[in-house]
Amino acid sequence: MADERRAARAPTGTHDILWPESWRWEGLVAAFADEAERAGYGLLQSPMFEYAEVFRRGIGEASEVVGKEMYEFPDRDGQVLALRPEGTASVVRAYVEHHPVPPFKAWYVTPAFRHERPQAGRYRQHHQVGVEAIGAADPDLDVEVVALADGFYRRLGLSDFTLKVNSMGDEACRPAYVERLGEVLAGRRELLCDEHRARLEANPLRVLDCKRDGCRAATADVPRLVDSLCDPCAAHFARVGEGLASLGVPWELDHRLVRGFDYYTRTTFEFASGAIEAAQNAIGGGGRYDGLVEMLGGPPTPGIGFGIGIERVLIACDKEGVFPADPPPPDAFVVDVAGGSSARDLTAALRRAGLRADRAFDGRSMKAQMKLADRSGAAVALIVGPGELAGGTVTVRPLRGDGEQRTVPLAEVVGEVLSTRPPNGEVR
Ligand code: HAM
Repeated sequence: MADERRAARAPTGTHDILWPESWRWEGLVAAFADEAERAGYGLLQSPMFEYAEVFRRGIGEASEVVGKEMYEFPDRDGQVLALRPEGTASVVRAYVEHHPVPPFKAWYVTPAFRHERPQAGRYRQHHQVGVEAIGAADPDLDVEVVALADGFYRRLGLSDFTLKVNSMGDEACRPAYVERLGEVLAGRRELLCDEHRARLEANPLRVLDCKRDGCRAATADVPRLVDSLCDPCAAHFARVGEGLASLGVPWELDHRLVRGFDYYTRTTFEFASGAIEAAQNAIGGGGRYDGLVEMLGGPPTPGIGFGIGIERVLIACDKEGVFPADPPPPDAFVVDVAGGSSARDLTAALRRAGLRADRAFDGRSMKAQMKLADRSGAAVALIVGPGELAGGTVTVRPLRGDGEQRTVPLAEVVGEVLSTRPPNGEVR
């Protein structure tokens, strides 16, 4: 691509979010913040890039995200940094660095960078809201975390989605299962897709969630991890299932659910939208990572969390026809054709009084300004022409509904607009 074309467009797989779509983002993040904060999670802001080691150790060198997709670069001092491909490793790194009192419950909103093949719902910079709860092994915390995500989707109005849950076991029971699975699949090697045949020894678990026919056939009747759990993992999983049922959060066991990061232990889960194409239908996912704090240099500490893809949730909302978000229009649009200072000063006075007010610039004609006023969605136009300027008045022209046009003394116009505003900032 020529340099001048590159200078005028966002990089492949990234996108700008313009108003009014960005208003929906604000609404989504505010709704998430409210859900998370009511459950005791506080906002954590951490750097968008970390030493690459954080993700190499945390997510795992063998994972696709680190091995193939991470944006990694030496900075000008020769330090190897990486743009955050997900939120969890950074939160855990911050936990290890600051050792807050456990349980440490944090929520975040963050871009995440992955060099993927861009397509609808799959981007190189996507955005997540998420939570992490570090320092408690209690299965009731798993229930809290899963229910929080479920409640958030429902608050937006989504209903066409399913929750899949699995257990990845722990260090006591998983290695034996992985070995057994590896042996079974080695005997069916010829059925596997090229990618998983090549990576069978490194990670047989990944074959389980491969969607290709051969891998599907090879894993159709393999032993299930949930049937091979040690007693503590089985008891943990049973309590999670019981808790979700008790809270009325519908879920189904998916023994094939193997998420793409090495840090998962015990509970893993994913929410899939029924309204989006299968390849990109994961609208959120997460799980326990009881060894991650240790992997990043802290003491043995359990943790659990999830990440929710903002873009995908908004796609699901569009498909389900929910969570529309029309930004509130201005309360007033000042139309100044007298060339005095009214547009400047009256607009500022309206804003200082807490009103939403806008205006035109560059001395445009009455017709052009009225067009802008109308397009803005404002409830009223406040018109100052030569007559009004001379008389110290403003013409208040309703642009919506059937109110009458009237002339008001300049000193009273702010009060006049305030008095017609719907209560509590309700949108007209
Ligand atoms: P993840 O499943 O990789 O998990 O990402 C979470 C969500 O981000 C996905 O369910 C999806 O909605 C969205 N997402 C992922 N990749 C893309 C992409 N390329 N384009 C658009 N959306 C995408 C994690 O990131 C874990 N950190 C979740 C977690 C938190 N586990 C424990 N705590």
